[in-house]
Amino acid sequence: MSEKVNVKSDALLSIRGLKKYFPIKSGVTRKTIGHVKAVDGLNFDIKAGETFGLVGESGCGKSTTGRTLLRLLEATEGEVIFNGENILNYDKARLRQLRTEMQIIFQDPYSSLNPRMTVGEIVGEALLEHGLVKNKKELEERVVSIIEKCGLSGYHIKRYPHEFSGGQRQRICIARALALNPKFVVCDEAVSALDVSIQSQVINLLKDLQKDMDLTYLFISHDLGVVKYISDNIGVMYLGSMAEMAGKDELFENPMHPYTQALLSAIPTSHPLEKKERIILQGDIPSPANPPSGCRFHTRCPKVMPICSTEIPAFKNVGEGHFCACHLYK
Ligand SMILES: Nc1ncnc2c1ncn2[C@@H]1O[C@H](COP(=O)(O)OP(=O)(O)OP(=O)(O)O)[C@@H](O)[C@H]1O
Ligand code: SF4
Ligand SMILES: [Mg+2]
Repeated sequence: MSEKVNVKSDALLSIRGLKKYFPIKSGVTRKTIGHVKAVDGLNFDIKAGETFGLVGESGCGKSTTGRTLLRLLEATEGEVIFNGENILNYDKARLRQLRTEMQIIFQDPYSSLNPRMTVGEIVGEALLEHGLVKNKKELEERVVSIIEKCGLSGYHIKRYPHEFSGGQRQRICIARALALNPKFVVCDEAVSALDVSIQSQVINLLKDLQKDMDLTYLFISHDLGVVKYISDNIGVMYLGSMAEMAGKDELFENPMHPYTQALLSAIPTSHPLEKKERIILQGDIPSPANPPSGCRFHTRCPKVMPICSTEIPAFKNVGEGHFCACHLYK
């Protein structure tokens, strides 16, 4: 599944053969006795200005993908081409510069904000660190401007995180990520901890900011309904690999991989009389330390065939921009 794919000319970010293995150490000798293959050979492109949704069950490697491509984790193998350069080769100085262009918004707005810092200090910290403001006045202007864009008020800069609701705290996290005017943002379960009504407000804010600030998003979520709403293209991950990838409408109208079909069958229908047959997957998700041979999904696939346990299915182009890794499609 990690064959080379040509980099698209309109891609802001191209991921090629990306792997991230975590060593498993013996409890006694501390020697490495195996690896958790959290990300095991991913290929995908994200075009400038688009939102690429990454979905899959818990533990399939979504967050590790996001963190590795930002170099918050060091990759085991592969390339991350951003603006035409492989950033996995960047040294410390260039990496520091890269931090102004690539940012992340985390799931939990409670634990990711320092309770002892004011909103002004939180949002302004990176501007000071990167020397992007000349004086206190300019710092305050920049901070107020970004928090207002994120739906907060100028007077909030003097307040502390505990004085805000969950939705407002996530707005502070968004303001912090956008203060440096980045090009690319990883949103890792950015709305998952919020109430459903607040979720849609924050998603709409992210969409507005995307237009306003020319942002490109990698939107990670286990919630297909949310991903459908915000994404242009979607990748479905299973156990460290990409099972299927397509434009949003194509994926929802014509899911080809049995795993995607099962995930989509679990989304409740909007109409009470509309009947949908739910595909229940048997068995647990296998361990990424010891993934199944052949197709990783074969231990749970309702359409499994003899070839599936012996041969790894290639990640093939099965239609315009529609990729699928499954032996059902030759
Ligand atoms: N620092 C680490 N050390 C060892 N294993 C790790 C580490 N971080 C993640 N893993 C493992 O890598 C795999 C992928 O984890 P990851 O957090 O990327 O999944 P995820 O798809 O984001 O899941 P979730 O939906 O629960 O957030 C899991 O098996 C996890 O236990
Ligand atoms: S390759 Fe086989 S096991 Fe894997 S998804 Fe396709 S049919 Fe199922
Ligand atoms: Mg995660």
